[in-house]
Amino acid sequence: MQFSRTPLKRSFLTNIAVISLVSIILAACGGGSSGGSTSTSSSSSASSCVPGSNTKLVRPAGPVKKVGWSQNALDGAWRFAEEASIKAAAQSHGYQLLPMNANNSDDQQVQDIQTLINEKPDFLLIDPHTEDGEANQVVAARKACIPVIIVDRDVNEQIDSPGRDFATFVGSDFQKQGVLAADALIEAMGGPSTKATIVELDGTTGSSPAILRGGGFNGELAAKAPGIQIVAEQTANFARATGQQVMATLIAQHPDIKGVFAHNDEMAIGAITALKAAGKKPGQDIKVVSIDGTKDATNLVLSGEEYAVVQSNPRLGQLVFDTMDKFIKGEDLQAWTVQPDKVFKKADGTAQAYLPDAF
Ligand code: AHR
Repeated sequence: MQFSRTPLKRSFLTNIAVISLVSIILAACGGGSSGGSTSTSSSSSASSCVPGSNTKLVRPAGPVKKVGWSQNALDGAWRFAEEASIKAAAQSHGYQLLPMNANNSDDQQVQDIQTLINEKPDFLLIDPHTEDGEANQVVAARKACIPVIIVDRDVNEQIDSPGRDFATFVGSDFQKQGVLAADALIEAMGGPSTKATIVELDGTTGSSPAILRGGGFNGELAAKAPGIQIVAEQTANFARATGQQVMATLIAQHPDIKGVFAHNDEMAIGAITALKAAGKKPGQDIKVVSIDGTKDATNLVLSGEEYAVVQSNPRLGQLVFDTMDKFIKGEDLQAWTVQPDKVFKKADGTAQAYLPDAF
């Protein structure tokens, strides 16, 4: 199924601007709610919280022991690395983790979060499958007096506000990753004056990495290299096998393309297999760029079949639990706790240097 090009929906700075604007309007109206760059200034204590009618972010009153963890899927190197990191950090911080896996299903993840809310954990970590799919469950957790941190993928912030419904978002700047991927692909294809066509393999429709990486990439490409045209854009659900199937169809329809941008490494690896099966030489006649930093993709960069990988570090556990501990101690948090990422290429030695850390 073909999808139209994703518009540049929201950048980190846009989010901050929207949050600030909302805060100014609320302050002018005398309303108390989430505050600007810090997210927790209007939180209340769990000891005074009434489950069912709670309207504010809650800060745990006593010692935190039980932490619910709603993972959207366990289906590739990135997610396995994230899961291991969350589990290791929970253990080293002394928490009992209640893990759930939604297997790429919004319906399942809604059920999982409800199950976790019923368990009355002291804290809830949610890595949402899509921006809209789990948004109402974050509100349900807030109403039930359970503090939430959003991990990796963001929720729809028109529905869930940092500082009211969740303490902070901890994860990468996906919009920036898309910009970095566009810069790398432009470079690989000969620079901003290049005239050529490419295709884009999207991640899961409605997920924040697909929306923001696509937005960052498409915006940067249009601004910096308008002669490079995206002739087809299609989702492959962040999956290797689907990436291979979709690429096999797209290369038959568009045999003259000179580049591929895949929203994650798994889809890029599948795409490279399909390109080779179609008689193409990835790295020579078609340049490929993707996002994540898996061992498999980094090795493809080193072998020359992929031009660059933009990092999306899945090892979020330490940052998540350190951030949670700060919140429990009473510190105010930033609305977004952003993890910085890098770009790995063969030519400058960065891929070789990174390889031992790849997952
Ligand atoms: O949310 C992060 C993305 O989800 C990773 O890029 C991808 O590999 C995973 O499925």
